[in-house]
Amino acid sequence: MLAGRKILLIITGGIAAFKAIDLIRMIKRAGGDVQPILTASASEFVTPLTVGALAGNQAQSALFDLTRESEIGHIELVRDADLIVVAPATANFIAKMANGLADDLASTAILARDKHVIVAPAMNVKMYEAEPTQRNLKMLVEDGMQIVGPDEGEMACGEFGPGRLSEPETIFAAIEDYFHTHSNDLPLKGKRVLITSGATREPLDPVRFLTNASSGKQGTAIAKTLRAAGAEVEFVTGAAEVPPPDGVNITEVGSAQDMYDAVHEVLPCDVAIFCAAVSDWRPKSVGAEKIKKKGDGEAPSLEMVLNPDILKSVAALPAGERPELVIGFAAETENVIEHARAKFERKGCDWLLANDVSANTGTFGGDNNSIVFFDEQTHQEWGPMSKSEVGHKLVSKIASHLKISD
Ligand code: CTP
Repeated sequence: MLAGRKILLIITGGIAAFKAIDLIRMIKRAGGDVQPILTASASEFVTPLTVGALAGNQAQSALFDLTRESEIGHIELVRDADLIVVAPATANFIAKMANGLADDLASTAILARDKHVIVAPAMNVKMYEAEPTQRNLKMLVEDGMQIVGPDEGEMACGEFGPGRLSEPETIFAAIEDYFHTHSNDLPLKGKRVLITSGATREPLDPVRFLTNASSGKQGTAIAKTLRAAGAEVEFVTGAAEVPPPDGVNITEVGSAQDMYDAVHEVLPCDVAIFCAAVSDWRPKSVGAEKIKKKGDGEAPSLEMVLNPDILKSVAALPAGERPELVIGFAAETENVIEHARAKFERKGCDWLLANDVSANTGTFGGDNNSIVFFDEQTHQEWGPMSKSEVGHKLVSKIASHLKISD
């Protein structure tokens, strides 16, 4: 949640400069404002035109631009920003920052800074490990800068080791974290939000259960963004492939009935989001011991009973107990719009996010999602986009809804 935040993004010259493009997109989608500065060598890797067009602000590079100096000037570029990010930061630029050199717009802006700086190094592994670079990085930390990465892996030059620019998602998370810990006007501050995530497990006996392919990635991404927006997050999770986010209250559950109980236990809240893939049925009886094979060729048949519908039960709570916004998800494998609209009516929720989870979409377990968002009147398509972008879009929408209704 970066609404209204101004980020001065310094891009220095390196093969990883193209990743700055993704970072700009993420900041913009999260509602942030990006003012890019390119060093002369960065312009060899990405064009100022592309960067400027994506950022929605002209990319600056020349120190002595008289028009610009008279309009705002390089000092104002820094004063105007809430945060400075250097990504990618080359060994050369790190050396300049560490030693106070100021011979172009980017290094001058750094020397004139009065804001926090996040530095994401990217260089050849030998250059990274070289003593002068390590010394310089240490000096940057002593000067109060924050270093993100680098990652380890195969480099563009073919060598292997630390030196790769951190993924844009990681740099973006550091930006969000910065604003989360240094902000008093977060959009969901004071709001309590419940979110269910992951897959339920319905036991058959002590060693077997029925479940589904939910990875928990979408719920986790939303919970992270809710927290970054200042909400108090109640994260009720079934089985998941990804670890739960930091800074949220976690309740781990097994079956749908456990999830139902946990949800009703943590209520009341302002917003409730039902992202979990809940099993609709459970085996009628659960064996106290492992169910044994009876004989060759004989398979047991399962009698199933219905699980409680958690979303429906919360949406049906009387005014005063019902969260102001109840948001459901719909996992569909065919006729997404038709089925999701019917589900929206049936569940009694305020918004519904439908996704196509048929095998060829890769939604279950993948990093991307395509959503059809429903409210009472209309529906609109979101994506395809990353699960974390779905989180940002949803949380922005929640924040504006709560602001209007306050
Ligand atoms: N849900 C729930 N409790 C259940 C079943 C589903 O809270 N017992 C919630 C899910 O978390 C999701 C929404 O209801 O937000 C829709 O889930 P989905 O599996 O798509 O729908 P079902 O109700 O299971 O309907 P169907 O299986 O017919 O598609």
